[in-house]
Amino acid sequence: MRVTLSVIKADIGGYVGHSESHPDVLAKADEMLGKARKSGLLIDYHITKCGDDLQLIMTHQQGEESDKIHELAWDTFLAGTEVAKSLKLYGAGQDLLSDAFSGNVKGMGPGVAEMEFEERKSEPVIVFMADKTSAGAWNMPLYKMFADPFNTIGLVIAPGMHAGFAFEVHDVKEHKKIILNTPEESYDLLIFIGAPSRYMVKAVYSRETNDIAAVSSTQKLSLIAGRYVGKDDPVCVVRAQGAFPAVGEVLEPFTLPHLVEGWMRGSHHGPFMPVAIPDSTPTRFDGPPRVIAAGFQLADGKLVGPRDMFADKSFDLARQQANEIANYMRRHGPFEPHRLPLEEMEYTTMPQVAEKLEGRFTSLE
Ligand code: F6R
Ligand code: MG
Ligand code: MG
Repeated sequence: MRVTLSVIKADIGGYVGHSESHPDVLAKADEMLGKARKSGLLIDYHITKCGDDLQLIMTHQQGEESDKIHELAWDTFLAGTEVAKSLKLYGAGQDLLSDAFSGNVKGMGPGVAEMEFEERKSEPVIVFMADKTSAGAWNMPLYKMFADPFNTIGLVIAPGMHAGFAFEVHDVKEHKKIILNTPEESYDLLIFIGAPSRYMVKAVYSRETNDIAAVSSTQKLSLIAGRYVGKDDPVCVVRAQGAFPAVGEVLEPFTLPHLVEGWMRGSHHGPFMPVAIPDSTPTRFDGPPRVIAAGFQLADGKLVGPRDMFADKSFDLARQQANEIANYMRRHGPFEPHRLPLEEMEYTTMPQVAEKLEGRFTSLE
């Protein structure tokens, strides 16, 4: 059967500050999506959180970018915002950047990753969710999963993967996209996705079967709002096994807590720390940035799961390393490369400071 997996998320209020989500907000979302499952609009759903972000994981047969599904997500965020407001949670409704719903939540604040596919005989999927970082944080892990044989041995020895994968890359500043094929175009690909604040891997496709393998949210809040309103805190869905990387190959890139942008005030580089879902509570300097992984088996669209994939002890060392890197980076205080470079600061306080001091800059000549 054809099924659509939609992951739609928003920060609609933090508890305490920007560190966590309140259970009452999750309960409200559960009530809303429960009704939609009962009515038949959803096949199934799972509500979770990553830090201060509410995550709606939904299966249905309405296809990608369905008005009905997006409206359901929007209404759920609005209802959750009411709860957040009643508790005076921090930044209640923060990511809902528009008052009027227009049929699609894209461009309105929430992050969206959706894929429609023919459910296989057995369909393992991993939903990655991040807090305190930007869309683009998935570039390195997705490259490793689907194009790096030192990460994914299946690229070398699994016949269904040997043909490689096609990467759909979005230039979020120029609103353009390109498809690049690996392995033969991997150097071209890396030139672009090595600059993750502008070029983002939107999707990955199997070149053996043409099937969708992965999709990520590429919404950039600062580009939508024109100013800093919180980080994107993106999500990414990956199908595993068979013609796709094995579950262990999908998770392996996260053993390196690579540096991502985000953390305090969305203005720093910090290590991407893989944690169990209950540990997605960024507190030290509002971080360090977190990533969680919820694993599911789909059964006729039913979400069997989740399994909390990063709860595994084999990620302890990555967490330890992330804490050490966090310590090292913090000691740079307001200096680059801990603090983001100027061009990435244009959506923070930088323009106001520059404007205030404009008249005091004099020529060197
Ligand atoms: C980062 C983040 C936090 C806030 C910081 C200041 O994505 O959400 O680090 O930027 O706590 O928050 P405000 O400006 O709301 O006081
Ligand atoms: Mg927040
Ligand atoms: Mg967040």
